[in-house]
Amino acid sequence: MPLSDPVTIATTTAETSGTPVPLDLSALLGRLSLEQKVRLLTGGHFWSLHEEPTIGLRRIVMSDGPAGVRGELWDERDPSVNIPSPTAVAASWDPRLVEELGSLLAYEARRKGVDVVLAPTVNLHRSPYGGRHFECLSEDPLLTSSIGAALVIGLQAQGVAATVKHFAANDSETDRLSVDVQVDERTLRELYLAPFESLVRDAGAWSVMAAYNGVNGFTMTESPLLQTVLREEWGFDGVTMTDWYAGRSTQAAGRAGLDLMMPGPTGPWREALVAAVRAGEVAEADVDEKVIRILRLALRVGALACGPASQQAAEWSTSQSSELVRRSAAAGFVLLHNDTVEGAPVLPLHASGLGRVAVIGPNARQARYLGGGSALVFPPATVSPLEGIGTALGADVEVTYSAGARGQDRVTAASPASLSTPDGESGILVEFCGAEGEVLGTDRRLGSAFNWNNAFNGVDPAQLTTITLRTSLTADTQGDYRIGVSGVGQFTLHLDEELAFDTLLELPAHADPVESLMRPPQEWSAVALDQGQSVDISLTHVVKDREPGQDLIVALQLVADCIVEDDEAAIGRAVREAERSDVAIVVVGTTEEVESEGFDRRDLTLPGRQDELVRRVAAVCPRTVVVVNAGAPVLMPWQGEVAATLLTWFPGQEFGAALADVLLGVVEPGGRLPTTWPAAEGPALPTTVPEAGKLLYDEGLHIGYRRFLRDGVEPAFWFGHGLGYTQWSWDAASVSEPDEQGDVDVVVRVSNVGQHRGRELVQIYLSRADSRLERPVRWLAGHRWIDAPTGTTHEVVVTLPWRAFAHWDIDAHMWAVETGRFTVEVGRSAGDIILRAPVDL
Ligand code: BGC
Repeated sequence: MPLSDPVTIATTTAETSGTPVPLDLSALLGRLSLEQKVRLLTGGHFWSLHEEPTIGLRRIVMSDGPAGVRGELWDERDPSVNIPSPTAVAASWDPRLVEELGSLLAYEARRKGVDVVLAPTVNLHRSPYGGRHFECLSEDPLLTSSIGAALVIGLQAQGVAATVKHFAANDSETDRLSVDVQVDERTLRELYLAPFESLVRDAGAWSVMAAYNGVNGFTMTESPLLQTVLREEWGFDGVTMTDWYAGRSTQAAGRAGLDLMMPGPTGPWREALVAAVRAGEVAEADVDEKVIRILRLALRVGALACGPASQQAAEWSTSQSSELVRRSAAAGFVLLHNDTVEGAPVLPLHASGLGRVAVIGPNARQARYLGGGSALVFPPATVSPLEGIGTALGADVEVTYSAGARGQDRVTAASPASLSTPDGESGILVEFCGAEGEVLGTDRRLGSAFNWNNAFNGVDPAQLTTITLRTSLTADTQGDYRIGVSGVGQFTLHLDEELAFDTLLELPAHADPVESLMRPPQEWSAVALDQGQSVDISLTHVVKDREPGQDLIVALQLVADCIVEDDEAAIGRAVREAERSDVAIVVVGTTEEVESEGFDRRDLTLPGRQDELVRRVAAVCPRTVVVVNAGAPVLMPWQGEVAATLLTWFPGQEFGAALADVLLGVVEPGGRLPTTWPAAEGPALPTTVPEAGKLLYDEGLHIGYRRFLRDGVEPAFWFGHGLGYTQWSWDAASVSEPDEQGDVDVVVRVSNVGQHRGRELVQIYLSRADSRLERPVRWLAGHRWIDAPTGTTHEVVVTLPWRAFAHWDIDAHMWAVETGRFTVEVGRSAGDIILRAPVDL
């Protein structure tokens, strides 16, 4: 909604702390008492702000996040379209596609009554050990900016606010609540603040989330950067909110450029801030500035009665949203290599020549569609790789499946298909009970993962003492079953009315609170079942006491799985299948134990015996295609032994359909690496483990490809790398004189010399010889796709803004361009430069 809308906004403006404010917002502010104003500055609930009827302000609702819009309920009955996770989205290098995803998220938000989406996450891939790597876009600030900005624009064009997070330098998870990142001024500006600057200044983001961590001695919710850089230098006029529970003080946060404490209704402001204002410790003008910003956000999202109603986001039908999710998944798949077997590249596969295809690997059937943590949503339905490939190949090709090796030791959530309530209906009966064991209310659920947030199907949280799950599990195969719980607290399990365990599960000391959601402790009991045999399950959880006034949040999972055979037997079976097949498609990947919010990765190895599985399959099947289902780099020691490797990241709910499209050549694999893929662990990969509470970014400007280039270390695959299904010749590049602003046009000519229509990504880097400054060997300055039929030549123009040449001058504390000669370097990746041209500035 344009802020100049004449119906809603007075044309004159008043000034509050230097920021122009539409007069009618100041008038609304003037109708509020100090108590009413301060009340607006802390969430009313976990996901929403207080309403204020005096001024016609309704509740503003917020929701995560990057892979779909969850809404206020975290429940399988309220599913969300699950789009590809951020690394997958960034791998598309395609802002136009990302804008479409933004508009789908806006529609999802409106469908679920959400005004503010808590995305995009624009922290950088400083290290592949970062647990939330999958949720960030790239190791490069420019690519992060162009993809993040497109998401903001797509969302906000439909009247839904984007929230750029987590400001700033929240690039890893270890001790994230307390770590103090030590980063020099130039690195902070050129790398870690740059995407925030672009999304605030160029894309006009309406809200920003301040991170848990500190930077250079200030916790981010009290950091001077909120005022001096975000508000004053970049002119940000939106709301800065805390990350959840990141607000730590009344006064320091009150005086800083922070506007909103989330979640509520508890927190360090409220009465304490009113008192601090009355005592003269926090200026009332600071409070007013915060309230104005919240009112401006309310106006933008349509939450004020005197303003326009919420914009109706353009509607997406189920088939339209599935089509976009499928297309964007394929657009992010990165084909790393595609070897020639018997005279032809192994991909794309030609169904007509195939008799038998072995689909192998733990992630082929139990794929990861999205990463863990606050980004998690419940998709309405998913297509696994096995389903997608089977459907696409049809009845004429025999498709077999063998898991091969287990990807994880944890027991997985019980499959809803095998569960039925005591009344014989499918699912689980949930009983909410009071202090005397009396049943206060019940619910029937079709999933086995539960996240209750102060809403227990109408039961008063204050009365709730225990929650019991009752169901009967029927074995779909004969074997040893493990049945139990994932969660924190007191749990009692009965199997066929016999006590199986009564135990207290606790998080390890110093664990991040999010671990209680993503990697909570488990307890299980073993039971041998024949196929078709059932066992009655009763699991009781004692709800823990909570502080008065606080929302009651309960998260637990009923877990159950069956070990049919050990890994050795499973790998043996997979190898036998591969041997008899024309093609083996091995889908390997990470698990929520490895990649999640709340903790970092310990190593980059694929979990379990998956590497061995790949090697043994490849040894018997020359056409072995490995599909890597991970949100972040993993080591691939079997490179060189397999025919092709395709990275799919966490590709969203249409995984299998998109995979079949790419494997069979219906579409090209569209992705290019948004992050360098290391060949080995080692010093080129910065640690995420703080020392004495501090995490030193002592690699400075040299993260990702910049580090590999500086140190002369060859990664497995460079930033920007990725193959399509045709071939290109790169013919020429020329550079214009800088215009008045200092912008430069680079013209690149490429020809499609292969057999297929295709897309090629033109990547423009800059380098600078004889600089008086320390610089990366080269840095990304622009990018653009070419889409061309075979046998044609095309020219693209990529404009490099002056900022692409600029560095942060630490003496003048501003952006500056060093005069002299830069080299424009054009190529297929940061490690594959094909054309060069000088430019003098
Ligand atoms: C995460 C945020 C998220 C918030 C609300 C925090 O733990 O760091 O990214 O938006 O929770 O779920």
